Amino acid sequence: VVDIRKLYGQTGAFTYDPGFTSTASCQSKLTYIDGDEGVLLHRGYPIGELAEQSSFMEVCYLLLNGELPTADELEKFSWTISRHTMVHEQLAQFFRGFRRDAHPMAIMCGVVGALSAFYHDSTDIHDPQQRMIASHRLIAKMPTIAAMAYKYSVGQPFLYPDNSLSYTGNFLRMTFGVPAEQYEVNPAVEKAMDRIFILHADHEQNASTSTVRLAGSSGANPFACIAAGIACLWGPAHGGANEAALNMLHEIGTPERIPEFIARAKDKNDPFRLMGFGHRVYKNYDPRATVMQKTVREVFAALNVQDPLFETALRLEEIALSDDYFVEKKLFPNVDFYSGVILSAIGFPTSMFTVLFALARTVGWVAQWNEMITDPDQKIGRPRQLYTGPTQRAYVPVGQR
Ligand code: ACO
Repeated sequence: VVDIRKLYGQTGAFTYDPGFTSTASCQSKLTYIDGDEGVLLHRGYPIGELAEQSSFMEVCYLLLNGELPTADELEKFSWTISRHTMVHEQLAQFFRGFRRDAHPMAIMCGVVGALSAFYHDSTDIHDPQQRMIASHRLIAKMPTIAAMAYKYSVGQPFLYPDNSLSYTGNFLRMTFGVPAEQYEVNPAVEKAMDRIFILHADHEQNASTSTVRLAGSSGANPFACIAAGIACLWGPAHGGANEAALNMLHEIGTPERIPEFIARAKDKNDPFRLMGFGHRVYKNYDPRATVMQKTVREVFAALNVQDPLFETALRLEEIALSDDYFVEKKLFPNVDFYSGVILSAIGFPTSMFTVLFALARTVGWVAQWNEMITDPDQKIGRPRQLYTGPTQRAYVPVGQR
């Protein structure tokens, strides 16, 4: 606790906690992480069990409603989501305003924020039913918008959603269907993609979720709040790390070059870090990375592909985890380390990786946003600061300086 009266003659006391490493900003019943033990639970259920046995729609229901759905509830929920997958025709015009080489995350920030202009009927944040409709709309429309961002970048026509398909199957078809009628969803890829969505669904008060909560604390509409979360997620220290990790693996190239990059990561005069390694909370293996590594093998087997980059990634992990620097600092692979290898095997360009993260994290964002609005302790977020600038001084006219 810093007594600023002693420092700057101001009154009051507060904690100075850059990066919020020890300050809880809210209470939450959604997600529990034990970073020392490598445990991640959603509403009490271990991530490994959810990834192995459930579906992304089930996890969405769980996060939003607190309990796993019955078979009937799941069917109704999936049906409801599928009824909101279309986007307004006018929204397609937004895409055409971007350059073809625009980063799809730039497009996502703009287009998702613009949704608020189309849904004036779901912006009364104090009405639980409107909040739920806005949540459903966001979960349902993210795959459509993400697929449109991809299609725009490759110069292909947008595809309308096919609601006879699963949430994930529909997304794959809207993204890769050329022509749509001939596209058949590969069940193994669909399963892997669904699992990747589960692994990214929520992760308590990370930077983008805290951004969504902070934006929402002012009463901003949900579409604007999610757009703020997308903007925050884009950074390479957060959701942009999967793209950066794959780029790094490409740069390393072959296992022989790994020691050179390990040395650079340890060199304090070199800004280089091993991307996909380390985590603010996990000081043990990220449980999502374990599932992700297994999923790489399944996707490779299903698609009958080999990628030497996966061998490089495995060897990099092995070398890093036997190096004193990484052991002492408790730096382990995080969820982003292996996801890029799978996503590129499925056919996504690296620029789409963070978009997929945003698509999946939308349910976490809206669940956290809903929880915040209904929290009786909720207040507008307003961190304090430790002022270190000049004390009061007299203005000097420009001609006298
Ligand atoms: N490579 C090399 N050294 C590292 C790495 C890394 N990937 N990560 C942390 N370190 C070192 C730091 O240099 C620092 O060393 P020091 O104590 O000697 O100064 C120490 O470990 C602690 O690092 P901090 O940056 O203080 O830890 P913080 O908790 O703030 O950062 C972060 C966590 C941002 C994830 C960091 O580990 C990192 O930059 N990793 C690479 C990017 C990445 O993979 N991000 C994805 C995170 S998961 C997600 O968002 C889904």
